[in-house]
Amino acid sequence: MEYRRLGSSDLNVSVIGYGAWGIGGAPFWSNEGDDPSLKSIKKAYDLGINFFDTAPVYGFGHSERLIGKALKAVRDKVVLATKCGLVWEKEQLGAIKKVATRESILKEVEQSLERLDTDYIDLYQVHWPDADTPQEETMQALLDLQQQGKIRHIGVSNYDVKQMQECLKTGPIVSLQPEYSLLQRKIERETVPFCLVNDIGIIAYSPLASGVLTGKYNAETRFSDWRGKGILGEFTGEAFVRNIGKVERMKTLAETLGKTCGQVAINWVLRQPGLASALVGVKNPGQMEDNIQAVGWAPPEETARELDALFTPVAA
Ligand SMILES: NC(=O)c1ccc[n+]([C@@H]2O[C@H](COP(=O)([O-])OP(=O)(O)OC[C@H]3O[C@@H](n4cnc5c(N)ncnc54)[C@H](OP(=O)(O)O)[C@@H]3O)[C@@H](O)[C@H]2O)c1
Repeated sequence: MEYRRLGSSDLNVSVIGYGAWGIGGAPFWSNEGDDPSLKSIKKAYDLGINFFDTAPVYGFGHSERLIGKALKAVRDKVVLATKCGLVWEKEQLGAIKKVATRESILKEVEQSLERLDTDYIDLYQVHWPDADTPQEETMQALLDLQQQGKIRHIGVSNYDVKQMQECLKTGPIVSLQPEYSLLQRKIERETVPFCLVNDIGIIAYSPLASGVLTGKYNAETRFSDWRGKGILGEFTGEAFVRNIGKVERMKTLAETLGKTCGQVAINWVLRQPGLASALVGVKNPGQMEDNIQAVGWAPPEETARELDALFTPVAA
């Protein structure tokens, strides 16, 4: 495994991070049950992964509990990342709200610490920006938690440059967690250069475009989980069919490298500027073993150029 420093922090994180969204299960995902989930966490650790990313909203607490349970014995050897800022009154997709007020964060952190069965969080990230709360209030609450030793470092997720600039007026952030994959390259123009200048480590989420870049779906695929609901991403309609077309062409390219599409997709993310870690979502130990083979190699220059050209956004 390869490790990189996370932004301006003292954390060294594995370049593949364990993404614990899927193991939370409903209402977002269906999965294979807690036994394969727990085994996949253990497999990740055994393979050298030391970076685990979860959130309260993933299965409404279930993902945090599984992570806490599986990693309790090795707590001091791993980097635990969780989030705040998404809250719910009812356990339903439509009931989730963006709230990053001081009062809410102070309550959320206690719940996360309890579910993770730990007394500190290595990286505490604001999940989505809350347009109704000043960044100063959110940041001050996080700085106070840091002072108390409940969290070690502050990060943000799904923030744009302006929102990060606003945060930095109050205190340091060590990381940004944006969506980033061959199929989602929005951050390249403004966000990546900003992160490089400010030493903010990039933690890419959904490097497999939530499964699409594994090559296991086709244009006829209909998703029964969140991907079929049209709330986020391109998993239905023309955009989905267009993406599947690109992945089909990518298959030949992956074959020439002796790799799977998924391995090529993760490997591409790991080679991008400012990238500290790619959070890959897995649901069983087999997927973990497969994905780890994305690390430690680079394609020949010409193949890298072909891959890049295949997925270059039209407007770029
Ligand atoms: N901050 C945020 O707002 C945010 C948003 C999304 C994600 N995230 C983070 O990023 C992590 C990863 O994101 P993600 O789950 O959307 O996407 P992903 O890593 O792009 O894709 C994960 C999906 O790919 C499939 N997969 C993974 N490895 C595979 C393999 N070797 N063979 C075949 N299929 C494989 C699995 O699908 P199956 O379901 O078919 O098994 C899995 O659910 C999350 O767990 C979370 O930690 C953060």
